[in-house]
Amino acid sequence: MLAGRHVVLAVSGGVAAFKAAYLARRLLEAGAEVRAVMTHSSQNFLGAQSMAAITGIEPISDLFHQADVSPHTSLARWADVIVVAPATAATMARMANGLSEDIVSATVLAATCPVVVAPAMHTEMWEHPATQRNVETLRADGYVIVGPTSGALAGGDVGEGRMVEPEDIVTAISGALGDRSMAGWRVVVSAGGTREAIDPVRYIGNRSSGKMGNAVAIAAADAGAAVTLVTTVAAPKHPSIEVIEVESAQEMADAVWKTAAGADVAVLAAAVADFRPADPAVGKLRRAEGPPQVNLEPTPDILAGVSAMEDRPYLVGFAAEVGSVDAAVAKATRKGLDLLVANDVARPGSGFGTETNEVTIVTPGGDTEAWELLSKAEVGRRLIAEIAKRRNEAGRT
Ligand code: PMT
Repeated sequence: MLAGRHVVLAVSGGVAAFKAAYLARRLLEAGAEVRAVMTHSSQNFLGAQSMAAITGIEPISDLFHQADVSPHTSLARWADVIVVAPATAATMARMANGLSEDIVSATVLAATCPVVVAPAMHTEMWEHPATQRNVETLRADGYVIVGPTSGALAGGDVGEGRMVEPEDIVTAISGALGDRSMAGWRVVVSAGGTREAIDPVRYIGNRSSGKMGNAVAIAAADAGAAVTLVTTVAAPKHPSIEVIEVESAQEMADAVWKTAAGADVAVLAAAVADFRPADPAVGKLRRAEGPPQVNLEPTPDILAGVSAMEDRPYLVGFAAEVGSVDAAVAKATRKGLDLLVANDVARPGSGFGTETNEVTIVTPGGDTEAWELLSKAEVGRRLIAEIAKRRNEAGRT
């Protein structure tokens, strides 16, 4: 995928700049040609000479480069893909606003190729509404945003805002360059955990954050699909993702069944309640009235409904298991799926609310393939590539 491809590695000024050296190395190992541009502030964290030693070419740090009257446009034309890693809050703000004040922002502004952005900053800066607005703008402009993740930050802090690992960035670059495996397809994804009302203020719910479903939706959209994301939680902004917000299993079932009819693929990553209160109270239940008796009834089985559709989509379910995947293997056969993604939600770093996931792909025939612990973004991308391959091999149209 990367062999012979031209990659401009744009480095801005954060402590994660040192990882740009590893990223350059990984890209070269994958056969890419790499040219680096580095802001002056990035060189507080990674020397230009180190980058030159790795890539074999001196990085460009100035817009007014002696050897080239217009280095940013020359590089932008040469590039098959530009990767901004790390992308600081300031660099992302410039990119989102079309400012071309330094070699990194000017090269990105001149680009017509895909641009992959790997944010890195302190948690407070990442969560600031201004940064979140800029991320949304960049996504809407078609940039591929990879990460950030949670972990150690500069100055001993820990939290969200850490740049993802170079391997994840390489995968995102490959995706941005080539995976259009779902171009023209319609894909339905469910995400988040459903809430089943007990009374107007209380519900039965679960710990799903929607991160896994969101990652699948983004990967499908990046692969060219028109995605409908049926979700109970905040959804990513992406020009190819239409969002339907729901709360209960019944609302999710109605939305999924309506949109899955005629779709090419459905990936049901949501954690759906199996039971709901049969008669939710109309008014708020009062403590003074003592513990209520809550009778439960089954919710609709969304998967079964999709599976029973005439001309049904290629159907992928998720299974939250604890311990062995044996139950998931039985589920894959019983539920009439094309593929099941099992995750052991008791494993550290896996399942509910985590940034990472360790999944096993299960076929209805009982074949299993265990994947190593990966970021959910990476699981999403691999899964989408796998689904596209398997659906094509199955000759589905
Ligand atoms: O959202 P995150 O915090 O990122 O966490 C991700 C996750 C752990 C929620 C996700 O990876 C996952 O495992 N999702 C499925 C959870 C689940 O409900 O598993 P299950 O074994 O109970 O259900 C199996 C399948 O049936 C799922 O595809 C589910 O969407 C579907 N289902 C379940 C109940 C129901 N009434 N209708 C359904 O269609």
